[in-house]
Amino acid sequence: MPSSHFLYALYILTALLAVVKAAGLPSKIYGVNLGSWLVLEPWMLPQEWLDMGGQQCGDCSTCIASEFAFAKAYPNTVDAIFNKHWSTWFTQTDLDQLKAAGINTVRIPLGYWIVEPLVDRTSEYYPKGGILQLRRGLKQIRDAGIAVILDHHALPGVQSPNQMFTGRCTKDVQFYTPYNYHRALIWSGVMTALSHLDPAFRTVASLQAVNEPIMDANQTPGYGQFQKNFVQVVRAVELALGIPVSGVAPLSVVSSSRNVTAALSAASGLPNLFNSEVRQVLQDMVPVLTKVALQLTLDLNFDQQGLKVELRRKSPLITNFMDVNWQYNNPSNPADAKIGPQTYDNHLYYSFGGVADANEEAYMTHVCNLDRIEKDAALGNTPLWFGEWGLSTQFTASDAFLVKWADAQKYSYSKGAGWILHNPNVCARYIKQ
Ligand SMILES: *[C@@H]1O[C@H](CO)[C@@H](O)[C@H](O)[C@H]1NC(C)=O
Repeated sequence: MPSSHFLYALYILTALLAVVKAAGLPSKIYGVNLGSWLVLEPWMLPQEWLDMGGQQCGDCSTCIASEFAFAKAYPNTVDAIFNKHWSTWFTQTDLDQLKAAGINTVRIPLGYWIVEPLVDRTSEYYPKGGILQLRRGLKQIRDAGIAVILDHHALPGVQSPNQMFTGRCTKDVQFYTPYNYHRALIWSGVMTALSHLDPAFRTVASLQAVNEPIMDANQTPGYGQFQKNFVQVVRAVELALGIPVSGVAPLSVVSSSRNVTAALSAASGLPNLFNSEVRQVLQDMVPVLTKVALQLTLDLNFDQQGLKVELRRKSPLITNFMDVNWQYNNPSNPADAKIGPQTYDNHLYYSFGGVADANEEAYMTHVCNLDRIEKDAALGNTPLWFGEWGLSTQFTASDAFLVKWADAQKYSYSKGAGWILHNPNVCARYIKQ
């Protein structure tokens, strides 16, 4: 990616910083998002977007300002144009810079359309081929020894109105329906299987269920049950692969199945394995996984060298949700869905307003006394990381303030975990006793 936008990805868009104790992730996360790589948000690369053939408009639903609108407008060239973007936006050079900066974790935002058989091509328009680029990048990230959080960033049916990050700018939000919950669960099952089966996915440690659902829980009916089904699908797929999940008995079908799809089908017929929706997902993901495996030339036979033994030694993925306090109006608590290792994610952008008064003193006082980690922990949402935050402010900030502002955020988000803080005592003056 161009260096100016590299800065966006590294600082302005987001970074992660937290202390986590779970298999597969470093105990202290120093992370970035690979923003706008596989889910392109035009606001992040305005000139490149215009050069690709995109448009800019005040209401992003009224012009070519999302992947959906682009693919609809350019059906014959969209795949080639996006392939060029994917190849150039995240490269080995970028990765080398991340590594040199001490980054040990990346969060990768993904759209549901990366699992291509899930897309209804009669009414949904998205580029094809992203999964091959994901694998290309994952191999490079793995070889750099960096851990990965796969984030379902853009959900089938769209989870939030008029947001570029959902892949489609529309007020017609349809994610919170049985049909689209079901597709999202199939996606989660397929990503779980790939994470454990494809060698390129080896450093994938965590799978995030839904990025930024609507904050008003009255507008997200069924989301609590979806949270439970998400964890159960991840664990059911792992059990079908023969991966031990603490607290859950192993499945006997694994030993008699010759390949992954046979094991999933057999597991889907077990009347006591979670609930009927979870079992239906196992069944419906078989043809989807088969097609994706063909695309990736991934062998699903258990009898290939050592696969069964390797799977028995694997750790389950860390399931990840936006924290309970992301929503209001009596939200469901994702802690109630937990089976095995689980973590929580909060996003904090001061620049959107509503957090603190628009001046340096108010920003510093707020962030240095941040109580989100404690408030979440009181509801069982721990460990918590800050999966998205940024340096942008509602006022013109000096470079000197931005350094202080970055250090203060890192201080509070990591609760003293430390890391390239220019001034570890940056908060001392602001902390209220
Ligand atoms: C998996 O095993 C089943 C049952 O043994 C068989 O019908 C199916 O063709 C196999 N699939 C693959 C991809 O080998």
